[in-house]
Amino acid sequence: MVNSLFRRKSLTKILSDSDASGDIHAHELRRVLSVRDLTFFGIAAIIGAGSFSSMGTACASGGPGVIFLFILCGIACGFTAMCYAEFASRIPVAGSAYTYAYASFGELMAWVIGWALLMEYSIGNIYVAFAWSDYFTNLLHSLHIYIPGWLSTNYKAVHDAVIKNENQELISIWNTAPKIGTLRIIVDLPALLINVLITWLVYVGVKESRNISNLMVIIKLVAIVLVILVGITYINTDNWLPLNEVGMRSFMPNGFSGVMAGVSAVFFAYIGFDAVSTMAEESKNPQRDLPKGMIYSLIICTIVYIILSLVLTGMVDYKLLNVGDPLAEVFQQNNVGWMKNIISVIAVVAMTSVMLVFQLGQPRIWMSMSRDGLLPAQFQRIHPKHKTPSFSTIVTGIVVGLPIIFTDERFVLDFTSIGTLFAFVLVCGGVLLIPRREKQEGKFHLPYINGRLIYPLIITGLIAIIAITSNRYFPELLNGDFSDHSHASNAGDYLLGTPVLKISTIIFWLVCIVLSVFAFMRKLSLIPLMGLTTCLYLLTGMSASNWKWFFIWFAIGLVLYFSYGYRKSKLAAEKSLSVV
Ligand code: ALA
Repeated sequence: MVNSLFRRKSLTKILSDSDASGDIHAHELRRVLSVRDLTFFGIAAIIGAGSFSSMGTACASGGPGVIFLFILCGIACGFTAMCYAEFASRIPVAGSAYTYAYASFGELMAWVIGWALLMEYSIGNIYVAFAWSDYFTNLLHSLHIYIPGWLSTNYKAVHDAVIKNENQELISIWNTAPKIGTLRIIVDLPALLINVLITWLVYVGVKESRNISNLMVIIKLVAIVLVILVGITYINTDNWLPLNEVGMRSFMPNGFSGVMAGVSAVFFAYIGFDAVSTMAEESKNPQRDLPKGMIYSLIICTIVYIILSLVLTGMVDYKLLNVGDPLAEVFQQNNVGWMKNIISVIAVVAMTSVMLVFQLGQPRIWMSMSRDGLLPAQFQRIHPKHKTPSFSTIVTGIVVGLPIIFTDERFVLDFTSIGTLFAFVLVCGGVLLIPRREKQEGKFHLPYINGRLIYPLIITGLIAIIAITSNRYFPELLNGDFSDHSHASNAGDYLLGTPVLKISTIIFWLVCIVLSVFAFMRKLSLIPLMGLTTCLYLLTGMSASNWKWFFIWFAIGLVLYFSYGYRKSKLAAEKSLSVV
């Protein structure tokens, strides 16, 4: 039993399965995507609700110093992208991290990662749909078209506001909403409608989706450049050094802990580059092009984020950025009304393209899982005319659409970030497990830097720096003091406020020490080691409630695996045949 949980699919088998005939397989998808298309897909997936919506919250807690968090997340995603690229160049078939995990960790982990990716692609799209709806509703307001609050707000947000008796606007929506019996009708209709539209677009074909996606990315980039160029003229450099709580001017007015408080929001802004790897079977030369597409899109977006956050925090006092539409708000504050409307249009376009890419990615993961027998055969059904995974596409639409009715933004944002970071950790870990290979002409090859000495030195150096800069960090980590350090100002003091953060931080350091030993003994490759370490570090920022929901989700996934996938797996069938 235990062995069969770790049964692995060999690389040769994965590739031959993908080429096999007589079954519903990958070659039926159209190979139409070039490096430029893939880079555009990456940008389409990355720049969206994170930059147009959640970036505001991150700036409001971290001040101008939030750029350090963008750099940190950019580095974590950069290392992870290299690992994705290594896998993608070895295993150029659809399925993303799921397929990679099948080759390196075995079936159980592959299922777990496929299950975690559902959070990234489908649950992430719920957040984007909500943010899309906010900007779309604002846009309609500027055209004097009004949608009542009960038709443009989610039920949970309104219900929570009533319970807590805060936010008069939401409470008045509750009081004015029509009722069926005792049930109040409150639903985010634009969010539901955009999901239906996107599902249809993805259903009718990748070529059509690609054309629309490329167009939207061009509009998005041109518009962001416009925001930056116009915004720069309104920068007041005093805003980059606001007063902190003791009245001193500081680039990080709430200390490093304030910067790190935005980790979920900032990380969300980076999610998406990995969606490129789900397009392996539709790209012209996946082994060469997928890695390039991922890395190019990540570099472009990191630069955009750093400049954008400097512009935002330079244009207004950082505290004013705690709003749902920060990019529009900075122009409103500077009395540039015409830009506000342009921004709303751009935001709607940007978020539509994010939804499109995520909704393209999810069915392709299910398709791969179905091919392996872990999901029913319907999930690999390809539409005879459109050549798209039709059944999976419709199920994705339902999985995104239904929760829009009963969940809210905050929950799905955290849920998406934790699930995605978890998947990234497994991808980086997976690269450490697969054997090294010779460099091949024309294919991406993850540069091997021997981590034997460098990695333990980095970890030791970090521990030494923290111990020198903060005389509280390690003693408090070890002595059970869970007092609040939300205003800690030294890097080493941050994030020790709650038991769960402390426990995850202790686990983080223990894992780093264990990894150092393995790095030394096995001469592990430095890049995946750093990817693993930076993603684990970002995970230490997740709250107790994030972990609770994550584990519930995880448990449901395991129940499904053992009740279906474990028995129906093709590897299980092959094994029993060979025994006979
Ligand atoms: N990075 C994507 C966005 O910000 C998920 O919308």
